[in-house]
Amino acid sequence: MAVREVLKMGDPLLLQVAEPVAEFGTPQLDALLKDMFDTMDDYDGAGLAAPQIGVSKRVVIFGVEANPRYPDAEHVPMTVLINPEISANSPEMESGWEGCLSVPGMRGMVDRYSHISYRGFDAVGNPVEREVQGFHARVVQHECDHLDGILYPSRIKDMRYFGFEDVLFPELSVPKE
Ligand code: NI
Repeated sequence: MAVREVLKMGDPLLLQVAEPVAEFGTPQLDALLKDMFDTMDDYDGAGLAAPQIGVSKRVVIFGVEANPRYPDAEHVPMTVLINPEISANSPEMESGWEGCLSVPGMRGMVDRYSHISYRGFDAVGNPVEREVQGFHARVVQHECDHLDGILYPSRIKDMRYFGFEDVLFPELSVPKE
């Protein structure tokens, strides 16, 4: 088990555009994914992008079963998505609260496409293709933003809806970050 340090906003590595993965099923990619899952589990995250642990590759993982950070969140299957591409299936967007392990303790209101299709590859290079909506669509858009060096605060339109989660949501017990 290797829980890696999650880089925090302000680290220039989080602003880089990540490189595509060229080879699948390699020991290096397996080790990266194992560290990413160990880290996401340890931090109770809904998703993690490789740049957040300092690896500038187009690799994201996400999934929500029972997650104390998102008690009301719908189920999202545990997924490895490499070299992802996203397209919006309609121009409709919805606002929702987001948090990020690289911006600990904060939440902000972000508009995301409600319905998207995404495609990419799993750890061994099998194609992954899904059409999703709602929270699943939001998580994928958030994680894939990390691959282009974008953190969610830069997408907040109204900065009145950005703050500390224990102040915004005092009724929730706040998990460790
Ligand atoms: Ni994030």
